[in-house]
Amino acid sequence: MGSNYDKFETVCRILEENKFDKAKLISILQTIQEEYKYLPEEILAFVASTLKISPAKVYGVATFFAHFTLEPKGKHIIRICDGTACHVKRSTSLIETVRNKLGLKENEISTKDMLFTIDTVACLGACGLAPVVVVNEEVHGQMTPDKIVSLVDEILKQEEVK
Ligand code: FES
Repeated sequence: MGSNYDKFETVCRILEENKFDKAKLISILQTIQEEYKYLPEEILAFVASTLKISPAKVYGVATFFAHFTLEPKGKHIIRICDGTACHVKRSTSLIETVRNKLGLKENEISTKDMLFTIDTVACLGACGLAPVVVVNEEVHGQMTPDKIVSLVDEILKQEEVK
């Protein structure tokens, strides 16, 4: 089946492991996201046709759960909380600072080299530490624009050393 087959090899395996069971759609999508780091549109369409469910249903499930993402993510993910407590403590200045630092244009969430993705999230449940930023799963409280710039610089330095 040529290159198309290669492209879908992983998703075929995942579907097989789940015995092509529509009832397992959520766990199938979870595994696909673990493999591809996001849910590519053509993969969603493939899952829909293979499981004989409508693409709208698959797309609906993928967009309903916040932990699914339809866009590719960068290597380093910076989540900036913009919930009420963090917003009051000027989370927007953090968002602006880091976006400027990375040169992101209006609707961009990832840098061109896919090194960084900036996500704005609702309350992370650590309001006592507001404003909160999570860098690659590591929680940083009482964040300031200066501190976030040095976090980015640190990552850039590590990447250079590699
Ligand atoms: S609002 Fe940011 S952690 Fe709650």
